[in-house]
Amino acid sequence: MDKYKISELKQVGVDGVAGLIVKLFKETPYNEKWSKSNSRIRVLDCLKHPRSVYWKLEINSKLAGFIISYNIINYDGFYNYVDYLGIDQKYQGKGFGKKLVEYHQKYLRRNKVKALFYFGYLKSRSWRFHTKTIGLKEDEWKLLIKKFD
Ligand SMILES: CC(C)(COP(=O)(O)OP(=O)(O)OC[C@H]1O[C@@H](n2cnc3c(N)ncnc32)[C@H](O)[C@@H]1OP(=O)(O)O)[C@@H](O)C(=O)NCCC(=O)NCCS
Repeated sequence: MDKYKISELKQVGVDGVAGLIVKLFKETPYNEKWSKSNSRIRVLDCLKHPRSVYWKLEINSKLAGFIISYNIINYDGFYNYVDYLGIDQKYQGKGFGKKLVEYHQKYLRRNKVKALFYFGYLKSRSWRFHTKTIGLKEDEWKLLIKKFD
């Protein structure tokens, strides 16, 4: 495994993460056409959240992955919502995503966060990552959405 480092993402890393979002999510099955400016706003908004939790993963000192998330108060304590996570295509399938999420979970447990949740995309290869590699489970709550034409 290449040498990697996980550290807190700072304002200076925002552009790099925004670029990764554009690159990763334009791929099938997502087909999301993120503009650089919109993805930058998404990352910055998350960063400004009062309880944000942010990590970057670097390989050979270059950005190769990220998690952007924030904690939400629930009736029984804080839950961590992962807004986006990704590993550069070049390094996917080599265990870095698992390392990053494990690091994140360790931090959350230390801080008495009760749960981790995020949207997984059923049609994506990453579904296996979410359910098998990380161990997230489906529950009774489903996302409901009404799109305006
Ligand atoms: C999903 C993602 C974060 C996983 O990170 P990763 O470093 O590729 O995953 P790992 O190597 O740690 O784990 C690989 C496991 O996930 C599965 N997997 C998911 N996507 C994969 C991919 N593109 N390539 C290889 N394996 C993938 C494998 O089946 C493997 O399962 P195993 O643990 O039983 O062997 C990463 O592939 C990615 O960024 N994908 C595109 C963006 C995305 O889908 N983000 C999540 C949306 S919420």
